Amino acid sequence: MDRDQYGVIGHPVAHSLSPFIHGLFARGTGQEMTYRRFDVTPEEFHARVQGFFAAGGRGLNVTLPHKIAAVDVARELTQRAADAAAVNTLAARPEGLLGDNTDGAGLVRDLCDNLGLAVTRQRLLLIGAGGATRGVLGPLLGLSPAALVIANRTAVRAYALAASFADLGPVRGAGFEELGGPPFDLIINATSASLSGEVPPIPPATVGPQTVCYDLAYGRPATAFLAWAKRCGCARAHQGLGMLVEQAAESFRVWRGVRPQTAPVLAALKERHNEAAGELSAS
Ligand code: ATR
Repeated sequence: MDRDQYGVIGHPVAHSLSPFIHGLFARGTGQEMTYRRFDVTPEEFHARVQGFFAAGGRGLNVTLPHKIAAVDVARELTQRAADAAAVNTLAARPEGLLGDNTDGAGLVRDLCDNLGLAVTRQRLLLIGAGGATRGVLGPLLGLSPAALVIANRTAVRAYALAASFADLGPVRGAGFEELGGPPFDLIINATSASLSGEVPPIPPATVGPQTVCYDLAYGRPATAFLAWAKRCGCARAHQGLGMLVEQAAESFRVWRGVRPQTAPVLAALKERHNEAAGELSAS
């Protein structure tokens, strides 16, 4: 019998680690499936997605630049995809395509389970006000932080994003020059600055000896933001490889109804990643 078909759709997508990750998940859980890369331009996106599912495909991961366009191909959205206004997981369902977003759940699982960090009652600083921030805001506020400040180069985008999530928790927007008070407990970089080796102009006083810094992006050597955080004297600095594996595990669960073990896959990925210097990526 033909194996169930899955894949990742993006542009470019050649460097995606998702086939490696899902291949290990399938082996670890004994699932019969294939997982391929689809490099598809924005112009082709709708037709290619429809063609994939019409031919019996079971699920797609959606990556840059298609996460917003994927909202419109889904017949139904999960609440977290609706909150994020972006879809990173499409699943074939009898009633039509389901659009989900597992990015925030993946971040939360990496922070809490893999890294053992407390978020509840902590002061969080989230850098950036684009799609990546929107994707993780709801799940972070779901952990009941004491405060969550969104800081962005273009401050009005941070104000607007904070206003649209205000019903979910204590969130406010700021420009970088407005940041003050004691150092934050956790600073998460959700800007695309890492992808071009830049660091947003975050005041160093936001980082103290207890502050944990996390970059949604990952690379080797570590991202410029994490190098900056270490220079500022943070307690710990982590990049987003764990989030990448955890969001994939959550997509796998949505598709197959079984949650794969992530620790061995993350270990294998770190080993592979250490051999592939010079690339910067984000899920
Ligand atoms: P994504 O979907 O990856 O979040 P996006 O919606 O284009 O992409 O948002 C990119 C984010 O990174 C924005 O918050 C952007 O700041 P602006 O809103 O001011 O443009 C931020 N960003 C990108 N490069 C940056 C840089 N060099 N310094 C500071 N912020 C940067």
